[in-house]
Amino acid sequence: MTEQRTRATAAGVYDWCLGGHHHLPCDAEAAIAAQQAFPLTARTARYNRDFLQRVVRRLAKQGVRQYLDIGSGYPTAGNVHEIAQAIRPDSRVVYVDIDPDTIAVSNDILADDPHSLCIQADLTDPGSVLGHPGTRLLDFTEPVGLLLVSVLPFVGGDAKPLLRQYVGALTPGSHVAISHITAPDGEHARRRLKAAERQYNTKVQQRVNVRGRDEITALFDDTELVPPGLVRATHWHPPRPGYVPGDDDEASNVLLGGVGRVP
Ligand SMILES: C[S@@+](CC[C@H](N)C(=O)[O-])C[C@H]1O[C@@H](n2cnc3c(N)ncnc32)[C@H](O)[C@@H]1O
Repeated sequence: MTEQRTRATAAGVYDWCLGGHHHLPCDAEAAIAAQQAFPLTARTARYNRDFLQRVVRRLAKQGVRQYLDIGSGYPTAGNVHEIAQAIRPDSRVVYVDIDPDTIAVSNDILADDPHSLCIQADLTDPGSVLGHPGTRLLDFTEPVGLLLVSVLPFVGGDAKPLLRQYVGALTPGSHVAISHITAPDGEHARRRLKAAERQYNTKVQQRVNVRGRDEITALFDDTELVPPGLVRATHWHPPRPGYVPGDDDEASNVLLGGVGRVP
């Protein structure tokens, strides 16, 4: 951890939201400001992490053995390799993040795992991710689970051309999982989310962008959305009846999730 850092990072704020141990006071301050504006900020992060874990469990059960997790953040309980390897012990995972702190912490944890590693690269430069020597751990002639979970909000402008480049590198039968923050139903909730977005973008190094449902749906244009489609992340294959936190839960309302299959 770089102790001198005084500006919050997306990874640090997310770690605070999940109750982790890798954030600094500036991250906590930014997270609390966002939380005050939109009180379900931290709960949204939890729902996002739960979505990621359910996706990996499901893909592993369907036979996927390799994952490219871009925007992986700090390692926390229930990492992708832990979930995948619990089902398929030979599963390989390449974690990618732009934040050097997350890479250092992740590679410490992964030191004894020959099937997983973490590389520093920028999602917006697909060549730097797909052409990185570490990414050779994955065999792109076999299906890959591409995980873009709550990272595309950090990409400004039209993210579709970017998606096209990543999907173009995947063999048929691969999957792309995306979760994304969206404007919630209801004027009051929208105003509060907007205020949280403002707080976030004032205090955090990486700017966050909220996208509308249509824009997020379009990110799946080069894949076939698998059931149940693009839904509230909490509604995506909930693990048991009664898990869905409730239709009036704004934290569930602001986070969409879906998985597309490469045809
Ligand atoms: C909200 S966290 C999501 C972590 C993890 N995917 C999850 O869902 O639990 C977003 C992560 O994306 C990373 N990130 C932001 N912009 C990025 C970029 N251009 N390339 C790679 N990683 C990026 C941040 O550093 C942060 O760790």
